[in-house]
Amino acid sequence: MQLQVTSGPIAAQTTDTVVIEVSEGQRRLTGAAAQVDAALDGTITTLLREGLFAGRAGELTTLPSLGRVPAKRVVVHGVGGEAARTLDGLRARAGNLGRALRGLDAGHVAVSLQAATDHLDPEAAARAVAEGFVLGLYRFDKHHTRAEDRPRGSVASITLVEPTASRLPAVRRGVEAGRILAEATNLARDLGNEPANLMTPTIVAERAQTLAAECGLECEVIERAEAERLGMGSYLSVAAGSAQPPKFIVLRYHGGGRQKPIALVGKGITFDTGGISLKPGAGMERMKGDMTGAAAVIASMQAIARLAPAVNVIAVAPCTENMPGGNATKPGDVVYAMDGQSIEVLNTDAEGRLVLADGLAYARREGATTLIDIATLTGAMNVALGSVRIGTFANNDRLYQELERASTASGERLWRMPLDAEYFELIKSDVADLKNTGGAAAGSITAAKFLERFAHDTPWAHLDIAAVMDAAADRGEQVKGNTGRPVRTLVHFVLGRARG
Ligand code: BES
Ligand code: MN
Ligand code: ZN
Repeated sequence: MQLQVTSGPIAAQTTDTVVIEVSEGQRRLTGAAAQVDAALDGTITTLLREGLFAGRAGELTTLPSLGRVPAKRVVVHGVGGEAARTLDGLRARAGNLGRALRGLDAGHVAVSLQAATDHLDPEAAARAVAEGFVLGLYRFDKHHTRAEDRPRGSVASITLVEPTASRLPAVRRGVEAGRILAEATNLARDLGNEPANLMTPTIVAERAQTLAAECGLECEVIERAEAERLGMGSYLSVAAGSAQPPKFIVLRYHGGGRQKPIALVGKGITFDTGGISLKPGAGMERMKGDMTGAAAVIASMQAIARLAPAVNVIAVAPCTENMPGGNATKPGDVVYAMDGQSIEVLNTDAEGRLVLADGLAYARREGATTLIDIATLTGAMNVALGSVRIGTFANNDRLYQELERASTASGERLWRMPLDAEYFELIKSDVADLKNTGGAAAGSITAAKFLERFAHDTPWAHLDIAAVMDAAADRGEQVKGNTGRPVRTLVHFVLGRARG
């Protein structure tokens, strides 16, 4: 789908479809809507006067243009009341509108941006609209071999029409950034939606290498033997039961000269059976998404490379399957992480923290001054916060505040979770430095306390995305399936660092 920006009267657009917006309770049309209404001899005014169109958010009416404007069809789109006029509301509306237009097989579409940019910063508004369209129109249907099994319809292009020419440069910048952020999110979705037989650690590594070649990133893939030499006993203990070779993936972006890098560390379990502490069968297929953290950090690097901020960033993605097998790690086994700490593995299904321990240790060895890990770590996160906010832990207030600012820009909401010292008591082991589970209470917090030990004194934040990795239904910019959260937040964070 092409996304472009133009100025000029909406009524003159030569696309197949033009979309104009009407607010709830609006009596008199203005701007673009008034222009199109005049060309259609007041048909839209009639719709409003006769109570045939209320302007509620998501309401759509299609009118044939009868040759009175160049476009074949006019879509009147309800945008709701004032409350929906936020960047988040705009993004969600564009997502819903994009899918509605696809259902109409709308072809080339021109959309008035006026209502969007009236009260908001034009660049931010354009970014939100572009994100909404690109994210909302995403679909993962490559494995349907019959066309009739794929969702019908298409949108060939969307042209955003900005009536005020002086705003055009800001709108173009916003659309470009929004497209880059949304395409990176869609890349993460693609990696996460792919079934585990087609997204093995080897395939994730190949995808990272391809991305690096395309975007001018450096890519290093650490194989099992090298991981052994580096002392990554915690990470390798998860890989022990799998026939698939583990791949510890590192992507490097150099934009900041000799600065020390920011590290983004993503959990990359390409399938989580639980290992010897086997998960129940029902719903286990969801665990193909247990590499969403890795997908998010890899995909974020695509947007970072394209936006080229003046910082250094490394993405670290320890990837492996978690399988039961003859060589698999057993409950009670003791393993050693790269930083020398010993871990008693009481439950092989608490594997995410084991791969992240070495991911964090490796990032510190690379000289990272900020550590941010992203992981589908605990089912308990869904109990605490559900799928609305991402539970976020940090050992540093300033870092948390920076992340919160980034999440305000992205609309991917965070919520700070506690790390009180007392919680650490729950993961003290009788036989090793730490144990990998702390029992039923405070499951997300004890997991975070475990990771905190591997950050040592480095400023660190941990985003537990277990509850937000997939969406149950299409809604706004979200599409059923992997969400690609929190790619846009990570990129905004990095951009914020570059601005200083
Ligand atoms: N990958 C799971 C967590 C998860 C659950 C992600 C649901 C997405 C949706 C993780 O490895 C896991 O199994 N966690 C255990 C930890 C427990 C054994 C301490 C859990 O949450 O039950
Ligand atoms: Mn698990
Ligand atoms: Zn897992």
